Amino acid sequence: MLEVRNLRVRYGEVEAVKGLSLQVPAGAIVSLIGANGAGKTTSLRALTGLIKPSGGDARFENMSLVGLAPHDIVRLGIAHVPEGRRLFPKMTVLENLKMGAYLRTRKSGVASTFAMIYEHFPILRERGRQLAGSLSGGEQQMLAIARALMTRPKLLLLDEPSMRSTRSTSRSSSWSRTRCSR
Ligand SMILES: Nc1ncnc2c1ncn2[C@@H]1O[C@H](COP(=O)(O)OP(=O)(O)OP(=O)(O)O)[C@@H](O)[C@H]1O
Ligand SMILES: [Mg+2]
Repeated sequence: MLEVRNLRVRYGEVEAVKGLSLQVPAGAIVSLIGANGAGKTTSLRALTGLIKPSGGDARFENMSLVGLAPHDIVRLGIAHVPEGRRLFPKMTVLENLKMGAYLRTRKSGVASTFAMIYEHFPILRERGRQLAGSLSGGEQQMLAIARALMTRPKLLLLDEPSMRSTRSTSRSSSWSRTRCSR
């Protein structure tokens, strides 16, 4: 499904990713493990079009992602839960979720995704009118994951997914049916 070959990313003089190669088959969960500063976040940012790679290739369902804009990559079916969550803090929980569905056209499909999300994260239904910035850290993480799931991705890229979220507050065990890479 995803094939990354010799991906390189630079910030000016600094080469942050020095030739990453990996494959994510359909249905697989792949983790990227490395020390602080190893280039995990940078790799995910390159895969979602937020930064341009300096070399190598990344193909999703046989289409090169290199040079595509972030919104085109979302359209292909890749969603990113970024490090630090990057919610819209002054918008409500419901508005954040609707932003996740921005590119979707079929209303009935969106309604069923909302139902799936509320099943896994019931707190997000209860807090629909609360500003996202006033949720607890773990609740914000749930909202960030839920917002990404609103795109109905084929591939879900999660950066630091377990940061501040707990099993007792989310029924998250089964959302791994979408594919994850750390
Ligand atoms: N915007 C930037 N400008 C310059 N250097 C950067 C920038 N962003 C990241 N770097 C550097 O690139 C390297 C890789 O950073 P990155 O954030 O990808 O690491 P990481 O593996 O995600 O680390 P962590 O586990 O701490 O989240 C680091 O040395 C970092 O300082
Ligand atoms: Mg990181």
